[in-house]
Order: sequence, then structure tokens, then C-alpha cells
Amino acid sequence: MKKNVKLNQVIEYENKKRQEKAVYERPSFHLTPPTGWMNDPNGFSFFKGEYHLFYQYHPYNTNWGPMHWGHSKTMDFVKWEQLPCALAPDMKYDGQGCFSGSAMEDGGTHILMYTSVLEEEQEDGSKKVRQTQSIAVGDGITYEKLSRNPVITSSLLPKGSSKKDFRDPKIWKDGDTFYAAVGSEALDGYGQITLFSSQNLEDWKFESIMDSCKGEYGKMWECPDFFTLDGKQILIISPQFMRAKDLEFHNGNNSVYFIGSFDRERKIFVREKGFSLDYGMDFYAPQTVESADGRRIMVAWLQSWDNYMTPEQSNWSGMMTIPRELSIQGKRLIQVPVRELENYRVNKIAEDIVFSKKGEEPYTFEKLNNRSFDMTIEADVNENSFFTISVAANEEYDTKIVYDGRRNVLTTDRTNSGLRKDLICSRTMRVGKRNGRIKLRILMDKYTIEIFVNDGEQAMTSLIYTPLEAGKIVFESMEAIIFHVEKYDLRME
Ligand code: FRU
Repeated sequence: MKKNVKLNQVIEYENKKRQEKAVYERPSFHLTPPTGWMNDPNGFSFFKGEYHLFYQYHPYNTNWGPMHWGHSKTMDFVKWEQLPCALAPDMKYDGQGCFSGSAMEDGGTHILMYTSVLEEEQEDGSKKVRQTQSIAVGDGITYEKLSRNPVITSSLLPKGSSKKDFRDPKIWKDGDTFYAAVGSEALDGYGQITLFSSQNLEDWKFESIMDSCKGEYGKMWECPDFFTLDGKQILIISPQFMRAKDLEFHNGNNSVYFIGSFDRERKIFVREKGFSLDYGMDFYAPQTVESADGRRIMVAWLQSWDNYMTPEQSNWSGMMTIPRELSIQGKRLIQVPVRELENYRVNKIAEDIVFSKKGEEPYTFEKLNNRSFDMTIEADVNENSFFTISVAANEEYDTKIVYDGRRNVLTTDRTNSGLRKDLICSRTMRVGKRNGRIKLRILMDKYTIEIFVNDGEQAMTSLIYTPLEAGKIVFESMEAIIFHVEKYDLRME
């Protein structure tokens, strides 16, 4: 195929599709694909004064298919500009897909590193998938794949590694040396992160197994991210096939972080205990970037593999979370929505909702009636507290956020959100109190519910596709309680 034919076809197709009205209204401040399917964030990076975010992308329909890299950029993490598709699976070595990867700036060039997937026919007619790592360089719009691709093949993996699962490179530079941390699997089926280095982006050598599962935290580790924060090193992974553990991890795909330190001599990550990054139903494959002013910003796919949902007739599927600022407090990561979101707050309401005795009727705060808002609720709680905040509610629908003070847990329950499939409908997480208070910040953007507890001690992200006319917010409490509510609409135009 002639150079870029496939990519040019996609770009033409995107341009045509951009004129079409979305069948299903898009969220206001969450990134969606211009057309078709989106999964993992890729190549989240700062380049020439702007933040670029690529993503796993199948433009031609709303199902996962041969992966492209969609492309968008932002100045403030809230308003996104769509750019032409950056990578198409148009080479022999990546004909089955340009899978996840990362990006960085070096000497004025934007470097993308991704997993190139090739399906090879075997002599017996069976097919074997080969995952290798490749590089494309560009100027922020157009990217050219290196002629030496693939630059890392599974032949560089140490003995005892599976050659089948080998993907999602995270690239960075330390001094003159480029490093890439790549997810892979040991032959026993457990995940590991392999580290490679290069001086010129073309010749790579194996350095170490940076970290490995050791029987914990699922099987294959997908989508590693590795960075320094507040003097510590953080490794983020998205393991497949985890088993539920208490309320910390759920079955299947999770996103896990480890705070630790990097032994630079041995090139080994020494990890502390791992925790979930998000306790909701829809959060996967997060990536981070360092902002110009030194903040570490994380974004994830707001969807999950085993429970994904796309409304029928929709011509787009998948979205990203609101980007979140990370910091460390004790042994835990704290995450809050980027502060830039506050620039879009309008129509402030600050009010106390008072339940003065047991068993009062639910309270519908009519003034809070919409689906794109940023609402913070604070309340003094004790072991008898039990309250529910229902969002996207009307006579027919609701999604409940339930606090149970006896168990110190918070639940999101979307049973009644309008689902017609037997998907996971609720998830529960443990929460703390601060001086006898709980603080919940709830961000809603039409279909998304992102809850941040106690200024980011926990996050819980879930997706609903409740019809937009269900816009009431209803408070209910078993006990006397005062909700101190501060609420803003979020306006993008
Ligand atoms: C994670 C993942 C990655 C892979 C990509 C394919 O969600 O499975 O490991 O690169 O999605 O789209």
C-alpha cells in the first residue's frame, strides 16, 4: 500500500463524520472520539506548549477493531481540540493494530512509542499474533514511523518470558538514555514490567525486569506508567484477571498503583503495598503527564472491558475521565480534578439541606436539576448515618450514591439507571472521616459520575446512559443530618 493511504482515508472519513450530528449527545467536558470507538489513553505528553492526548481508536464503528491512534490536544485539560488521526495500522509489522503506548518530547520532536501488532499465518494455517514495540516521530500533527521499526521485538525478552503478551511501552529519557518500560508476562502467566534502554531510539537493549507480579495483583500487567512524585517513584499498572480482594480490588481488570523507590543500580522498582486507583465501575488504563507547572496529571478510559456499554444507535463510544492532579499523602495517592475545571463553574448555589429528625421524606432540590455539575457535599456523620444522594433521577430512573456510617462505606448503584443488560450495577468502597465529617465532591457530565471523597482520598468513577431528561438530585437520610451543599453548573462555551 502506498505511504499513508490508509491514514489519509481515516482522516477524510473523520472530516466527513465531524459534520454529522452525534446521535447520542456528547458529554461537555469529557473527551470522546470524533467517530467510532475509543479505549485507552495513549501518549499523554506536553509538546510545544500544549498537552497532547492520543487514544486507542477504531474510527469505522463503535466496536473495538484494528487499532489506530486518535489524537487531541488541550491547553487546560478541560477543553479539547480534535486533531487528525495520528497512526493507522498501515505497515506489515502493525497491520493488526497500533496498540497502546506513550509519548515524549525530545529536541523539538514528538516521539510516539506504541505496540505494533502483527498476525502471522503459521504453516498449519493457524494464526499467531506478534506484539513488538515501534516508534513514530512527528511535529504535533503528522507522524512518520521509523524505517527501523519494530525497534523492540520479543527476541530481546529474557528467558522465562512469554512471547505472546508484550505491550504498552512507557518511554522516558534520563540523561542521554531513553528508557521504555513494557508490560509482559512470565511463562507462569504472571505479569511483569520489562525495562529496555537506547541511545538513539533505534537500537534497544534489555535492562531488567523492573517489577513482577510474584503471584499478586492479577496476571498480565497492561499499560505501565512510571514517574517520580513528591520524591517517590510511582508505578501504575492495569492488571488483567485479578481476583476480588475485600473492597480493595474487584474481579477482572483493575488499575493499581504502587508507591516505591527505584534502585538505579539494579534498575529494579522496590514497591510498597498496591492500592486501587479508582473504586468505581468504569476506570481503566490510566496514564499521566507532568504539567508545565510541575503537577502530575492522570487520565483514564472511563469504561471497563467486561461491562462496556454503548447506547444503541450511537456513532461514538468511549470517553476519558476528567484529568486529575495526583499527590502523595502518607502511603496513599490523592487525586482531585484538575484545578482548571473551576474556571468553568457558573451559577453557584450554597445551601444547607436539613433533615431534622429520623425518617423524614426525601428532599428534591429542584434548583440542582441538571446533568453537568460540580457539587460538593459535607456532613457530620456517625455510625448511625445512612444517607442516599440520587442523581440523574426522575420518576423512572436514578443512580444512588449511598453512605453507610456503620460500615464506613460508600456505594454507587446504577441498577435503576436504565440498563437493559445484566451488567455490574454497583460497587462499594471503604471511606474515612475527617474530624467526624465526610466530604463528597460529585462531578457529573451527562453520563459520568466521578466521586472524590475527602479531598481525593478515594475516587469512584462510573458510567450511566440514563436519558438526559432525568436530571433531579434527591437527598434522603435515615437520621437527622445537615448536608452543606455547594454546587456549580459547568459551562463549556
Ligand atoms: C488495555 C489494552 C492494552 C492494549 C490495548 C488494545 O486496555 O488491552 O493492553 O494495548 O488495550 O486496544
